[in-house]
Amino acid sequence: MISQHTKEQIESRIDIIDIIGSFIKLKKRGVNYLGLCPFHNERTPSFTVSPAKEIYKCFGCGKSGNSISFLMEHEKYSYVEAMRWLAGRYNVEIEETAVDPTVKEALQKADSLYIINGFARQFFSNALLQTEEGQDIALSYLRERGFTDNIIEKFQLGYCPQDRDSFARAATAAQYNKDYLIQAGLVVERNDQLVDNYRGRIIFPIHNQTGKVTGFGARIIGKNDKAPKYINTPENDIYIKSKILYGSYFARHAIDKADECLLVEGYTDVISLHQAGIENVVASGGTSLTPDQLRLIKKYTQNLVIVYDGDGAGIKAALRGLDLALEEGLNVQLVLIPDGEDPDSYVKKQGSENFRSFIAENKKDIVLFQLQVSLNDAGNDANKKNAVVNRIAETISKLNKTEDFTRQQDYIRQCSSILNVDEAGLNALVNKRIRERINKLEAKASIAESQQPPEAPAEEDEDSIALLNKDEQVERNVVRALLEFGSYAWADNQKVSEYIFNEFEENELSELIDNKQMLLIIETYKSWLNNNIDITPKAFLYHEDIELSKVVVGLMDTRYELSPNWKEHYDGPLLTREQLYREEVLSSINYLKLRKIKRLLDENQRDINKATTREEQIMLMQTHQRLKQLEMELTKNYGTVIFK
Ligand code: CTP
Ligand code: MN
Repeated sequence: MISQHTKEQIESRIDIIDIIGSFIKLKKRGVNYLGLCPFHNERTPSFTVSPAKEIYKCFGCGKSGNSISFLMEHEKYSYVEAMRWLAGRYNVEIEETAVDPTVKEALQKADSLYIINGFARQFFSNALLQTEEGQDIALSYLRERGFTDNIIEKFQLGYCPQDRDSFARAATAAQYNKDYLIQAGLVVERNDQLVDNYRGRIIFPIHNQTGKVTGFGARIIGKNDKAPKYINTPENDIYIKSKILYGSYFARHAIDKADECLLVEGYTDVISLHQAGIENVVASGGTSLTPDQLRLIKKYTQNLVIVYDGDGAGIKAALRGLDLALEEGLNVQLVLIPDGEDPDSYVKKQGSENFRSFIAENKKDIVLFQLQVSLNDAGNDANKKNAVVNRIAETISKLNKTEDFTRQQDYIRQCSSILNVDEAGLNALVNKRIRERINKLEAKASIAESQQPPEAPAEEDEDSIALLNKDEQVERNVVRALLEFGSYAWADNQKVSEYIFNEFEENELSELIDNKQMLLIIETYKSWLNNNIDITPKAFLYHEDIELSKVVVGLMDTRYELSPNWKEHYDGPLLTREQLYREEVLSSINYLKLRKIKRLLDENQRDINKATTREEQIMLMQTHQRLKQLEMELTKNYGTVIFK
């Protein structure tokens, strides 16, 4: 875990304009900065960054957050990755709090492997571009295949010299650890000597989501049937094949923007398509997709287009991952490249525009495609045909979310026509499958129900805030007062936060707050206070629970305005919000107390209705009077500042 101290150091250095500005162009507009929103396509900028509040908000798509959530959304980093990125940018050394020694060791090992890979990448790159051998053998080959110098540089392609151990010698001279060099797959040990693993090959570095090199693919130059075409990095701590999609680092923004991801098989396919300006493309490395890879794609888009060779192997590979992809909720289409070509050769032959339109015009729905293929397989065998019907019903039944309903109905219509079966019959079969699954789920849910926490309400945006009822607004105001003014002085030796909590009995405040998110903030605040944790204004803005931090951003974002009443009552100069914090705290608290009294009154009223004896009734009526009295006093105080 990153230590609190490190977090604070990073947070104190955060410059949101600098951070967001390194990804998108921002222009100063008044106190804020404005740019084109990176999260949706727009022509006129509505993406606003506030350096004072350290938050961003897009008035087009509604995305908002702080610097860390920006990195998480834009770069798809985890919280820890975002912190590491920031630490790197602001030269903060990361202190880890007591981590499990095995975790620490794994982290150190991963770091070492990344460092070695970085060194190797540089070495291979030099060998390709700066040495005579590299230029003559490898660079000329790449150029012959039509790769430009720009694209070679972008993908950091390299070359490993034919020499037995030129890399091994360089790495040893630079004092890299032998075991790690072997684990990284860069060298192998032969008779106590280190020998380069990728001798005489073109090197394709493989980058992870943050652009670090996790491994390499090494292609033989030209044709050679005696040696394997590619040698790849063996699985190690940082190279886990099932989690890697080649090209995802370079494709991520294009996929986001296009809301579509093309999937090809090979390294060269990815690179050629990039060169042709088609950048929303990743490669599977010729194997079928794994759940981890599908999830990686789903971070960016729901729409996957598999672009494979039209040969049997390509088709099989495409179909293998289908069920998984549908279950992940992906919308999968298939394009087969004709005439024994692959995307690399096809785009080079056809050019970028033709390739694009070929894809657009030949995208086939993969469910229908699969049906066609299995029907062809089944031929006239009635049993096999039956199995096909059952399988397709199963597949279609997996599309059972509300938003998938039209798609599901389309499938039923189209499949029944392809299968030449009754549409109503297929519909019934699909519904049966759905029912079966729901029954199973319900059986599970009824067991789990008692332990399930209620679902958190959806994130609020500006519009829905306007619709919130007064109670909810007051809850937000209390929390906002706590966050903004909690550490201000209320009285001698008493902070605002302490005052707020002291005004209520132990759990009373929590019981009076209905909104789960507000409650969470209040309770977190209270526990920090009780544990003497320093509560800086940023502590919540940069809270590790990104959902919580988003709620906080939402609170900060809501415009605060003095009610017209206030202006009427006051003829002096208008005070700033900070100067008014006492009023704000008092009025929010009063409102909560009023709410409490209201509840007590209701409860009391119910008791009155139920009361059977005269005595009981009188007692309850007296309580009623007292509560009414309290209510009046509070209402009298209340109303100096009224929240809009
Ligand atoms: N592959 C592999 N090992 C092999 C062959 C293929 O790992 N022996 C993987 C590589 O990731 C390769 C992908 O499968 O990129 C697709 O294979 P292929 O189409 O044969 O290679 P390309 O990368 O397209 O190479 P080229 O265009 O140079 O033929
Ligand atoms: Mn190829």
